[in-house]
Amino acid sequence: MKLAPSIYTVDFSRLAEQISDAERAGVDVIHLDVMDGNFVPNITFGPMVCAAVARSTSLMCEAHLMINGPERYFRDYKEAGVSRIIVHVETCPHLYSTIQQLRQLGLQVGITLNPLTPLETLKPALPLVDLVLIMSVEPGYGGQKYIPQSAQRITTVRRWLDEIDSQAELEVDGGVNLSTICSVRDAGASIVVVGSAVFNDKYSVADSVQMLRTSLQECQGEDEHPL
Ligand code: DX5
Ligand code: ZN
Repeated sequence: MKLAPSIYTVDFSRLAEQISDAERAGVDVIHLDVMDGNFVPNITFGPMVCAAVARSTSLMCEAHLMINGPERYFRDYKEAGVSRIIVHVETCPHLYSTIQQLRQLGLQVGITLNPLTPLETLKPALPLVDLVLIMSVEPGYGGQKYIPQSAQRITTVRRWLDEIDSQAELEVDGGVNLSTICSVRDAGASIVVVGSAVFNDKYSVADSVQMLRTSLQECQGEDEHPL
């Protein structure tokens, strides 16, 4: 299971340091939550901060664009050093051409949808993408509670991807922590976004990542030796 820490809850006064701590702790991708105060209530950051993050890590950076009219900024995020862009189907009425635009820029393509947007909305695009992101919280904030119904959505998309032999990543975002990470993995996710579970004021980044890894090993162990 890959870990993608979201910098949404990072201590921005120690951004580069915390990113390096996460990289040293063995995470796989840096997840950048871009919010415009329109598609979601919050405003976070844009290409400049993404460029600063990309300069401070050798890990892949993916931008989760919770913004209206995302195609206006694809080139800016590409130039900032982002390798994968994840767009909300709710903001892309011309999703086929949006995907083409990302491909033309040499970017990896991710699609996502809000927790109650029907999954069928993204099904036709599955053969065209590198990643599907299942939102397990309403987008716009970190530290929210995982929506339990998400497990069903994860398994459904997992099945759809398997049916078309897709190699796309299945990512889950929102409320993934020590108590939910095992069920998210068991439902078929290959990568999880972890915000407050990694960047918080209770534990160091290294300890937070280690606890997530240990939790995964323990639930893996349970599977191997069912009681
Ligand atoms: C929510 C963002 C998530 C969030 C994750 O809109 O897309 O990436 O920051 O934070 P946690 O893991 O704390 O729910
Ligand atoms: Zn996100």
